[in-house]
Amino acid sequence: MTNLKILFTVVATLAVFTFVANVIPQVQSAVPREIVLSADMPPEELAAIGEEIYAGAGGCTACHGLGTRAPDLLGVVGGVCATRVPGQSCKDYLWESLINPTAYIVEGFDPIMIDQSIVSSQAELWTLVAFLESQGGEITVNADDFAAALAADDAAAAAPPPVAVTDPSQLDGMAIIEAQQCLACHAIGGVGGQVAPPFEDLRGQDPAFIRESIVDPNATINPDYQAFAGTMSPALAQMMSPAELDALVEFLATGGVGSGAGAEAPGDAAEVPPDSAGGSR
Ligand code: HEC
Ligand code: HEC
Repeated sequence: MTNLKILFTVVATLAVFTFVANVIPQVQSAVPREIVLSADMPPEELAAIGEEIYAGAGGCTACHGLGTRAPDLLGVVGGVCATRVPGQSCKDYLWESLINPTAYIVEGFDPIMIDQSIVSSQAELWTLVAFLESQGGEITVNADDFAAALAADDAAAAAPPPVAVTDPSQLDGMAIIEAQQCLACHAIGGVGGQVAPPFEDLRGQDPAFIRESIVDPNATINPDYQAFAGTMSPALAQMMSPAELDALVEFLATGGVGSGAGAEAPGDAAEVPPDSAGGSR
């Protein structure tokens, strides 16, 4: 369990850096909205925008508010947030819950929530914190927090785009899986979540099916995992370049990228540990 937490923390930390570098420009299109965020917005206005993101493009209600998959937040989380981690303020706890959700795992739930900076910019995340604080507590998000987030978003948007690798065979499928946080829900080699099919089950399956399942996760629902249907975010696919998606599909279908992997008998695939499949970190 400890190893799992460390893995998740590493994944989340990597993810934050990766997103800051890569993803922010796409983020803006993932949450289309006319409202312009500005540093002088009063807290209630921030919370109102946060509520909109919570109920809409943020995708939170795929899990929260259903009673079973995730803790209820509405009306309660602003009251419990300051008590979760000794010494951590409500505001800091909620912020961390969004960008590093596995730092503290609410008892009785699976750690299936992924870093929400995939879907939302930093400024949008602060509106969510303001909204969550308002659910049973007081809003302490202030203009300084918000101005800093807006500046960070601007800096990320202005950063030169990373050099894109366009040849899928140059990409490491396992590294993509880790960066995209797939292991919050899926396991490979016995490591990862239990709420979605283990990736070994995909070996030998039609690559077109695998691709569709990633791009449009609700197109087909695996009946064995009905209880968690709808939790896989289509935003994950939007964050990937076409080459990354190709490499990921290839990796999942064959258990590895490159000539050697294709030669493996699919029937034996379940016994192959992930590190023998070419994953170098
Ligand atoms: C895939 C399902 C899923 C999605 C989507 C999701 N969450 Fe969560 N969230 C969880 C689960 C499960 C927990 C409890 C386990 C944990 O602490 O990680 C949790 C915990 C939290 C907590 C801590 C609650 C507490 O009582 O301490 C907050 C705050 C939170 N989520 C906010 C959000 C917000 C805001 C969004 C949308 C931007 C969101 N979550 C999207 C599953 C999800
Ligand atoms: C928040 C949890 C969650 C995350 C994160 C997640 N998935 Fe899923 N995924 C599911 C669940 C639940 C199912 C089964 C229900 C369904 O078919 O939609 C599923 C189904 C799939 C399937 C179809 C498998 C089948 O047997 O039908 C593929 C392929 C897949 N996921 C790939 C991925 C990849 C690749 C990633 C990372 C980019 C990922 N998933 C991230 C929850 C998740």
